[in-house]
Amino acid sequence: VHGVPPSLSAKVVGSFAYLTVRDRLPTILTKVIDTIHRNKNKFFEEYGEEGIQAEKQTIGLLSKMRNELQTDKPVIPLTDSLQDAECWNQYLQKHQKLHGDQESVSWFKSPWLYVECYMYRRIHEALWLNPPISDYDVFNEGKTQGFFESQQAVMTICTHLEGINSNIENLSKNQLFEHFNKLLQVSLWGNKCDLSISAGQDNSQKTSPIDSLVSLQPLILVNDSNAVWSTLISAQTHARSEKTTVRVDIVLDNAGFELVTDLVLADFLVSSGLAHEVHFHGKSIPWFVSDVTAHDFQWTIQQTMAANHKCMSKIGYQWKSHLKDGVWSYHDHPFWTQPHEFCDMAADAPDLYANLQGADLVLFKGDLNYRKLVGDRDWDHTVGFGTALQGFGPAPLCSLRTLKANVQVGLQPGQAEKLTSHEPDWMTCGKYAVIQFYSSKAE
Ligand code: F6P
Ligand code: MG
Repeated sequence: VHGVPPSLSAKVVGSFAYLTVRDRLPTILTKVIDTIHRNKNKFFEEYGEEGIQAEKQTIGLLSKMRNELQTDKPVIPLTDSLQDAECWNQYLQKHQKLHGDQESVSWFKSPWLYVECYMYRRIHEALWLNPPISDYDVFNEGKTQGFFESQQAVMTICTHLEGINSNIENLSKNQLFEHFNKLLQVSLWGNKCDLSISAGQDNSQKTSPIDSLVSLQPLILVNDSNAVWSTLISAQTHARSEKTTVRVDIVLDNAGFELVTDLVLADFLVSSGLAHEVHFHGKSIPWFVSDVTAHDFQWTIQQTMAANHKCMSKIGYQWKSHLKDGVWSYHDHPFWTQPHEFCDMAADAPDLYANLQGADLVLFKGDLNYRKLVGDRDWDHTVGFGTALQGFGPAPLCSLRTLKANVQVGLQPGQAEKLTSHEPDWMTCGKYAVIQFYSSKAE
């Protein structure tokens, strides 16, 4: 389309995309292979000789893929017969046609967003082709470890939430707004804890998530939280007069501490009456190392309930009953683990698009969701967020993202230049963040 900048790609030597494909992705793959190998005995105990065969063959497929990546071979079609394989292969065909030859659709020459997603889909394929270990989540160990290493911070945030909840009926609107702002920022900074940027090194929260908010404030480059608040307040007014409910959707990112911060925010939205329903959206297969799956979601709530800490376990039980009562619900849709930009959602996943239209506000967590929102393109930094969304807007939406990829829109003129002069890697170092809002109604 005229006027739309090119996709970020590893073909730009030295770019963050290039370094990711050259260094980070192979490291992640090597870790995946090690994890499967380390669990060989477990597979043998569970499935006997068949488990050992599955382990060997899966590792064979993954090593082959790592080699394809490192020697910049063309991206090949998927061979499993899972439902979404067709969509991936069609996408590949489309790109081959567009660029005229097969060679151009290689690991380094393709759009970064596509190849990075493709790698995770191929990991899933390698396991899937080897029952009995087809459901094995190679990232599970890292995700659970990240959760346990954040225990202190989890207790702190649960105690904080319990303090608010115990007095929630007596709070003025201003006090509610203060709490909302804090918890929105806790959820924002929770996004620092992902396992993909560090290639699986660390994703735990060690410091107090509340005490650090003030010092982090200047690092929020765009802060539209007032608009998010107004959206919730007008949704509430509307719901009262129409006798309907307010629904907030959270498109989740990482398991571990970040997920806890999202659940805490959702709890507050419900107990304050700002929302009556929260829909969580997770991934249907293991994704980008630490992303939330249905299993991670349930497991996290179980762990919170089972904690040896009064506030934490009380809150865990509350979350369980929110789910039981349907106040909270968990959803996954194959679209979230496909390589598409979100502006394709209306055409490629019309059911999901229609579903999101039922929300009063959609919160998109994290870096990958941001890349998909703006199409992972080389936008000028002053282009409006609404423009970069390219027509995507099922409902008022807000991105809560710490910057971990070299794309950022909606900045003031000069803002990016100033950042670059002090800190050339401001877009990828994970230190900065945005709370960026868009609503088509505001136009
Ligand atoms: O490696 C690519 C990447 O999208 C980075 O840009 C980012 O560090 C990571 O993966 C995912 O981050 P998040 O969990 O915030 O989506
Ligand atoms: Mg993630």
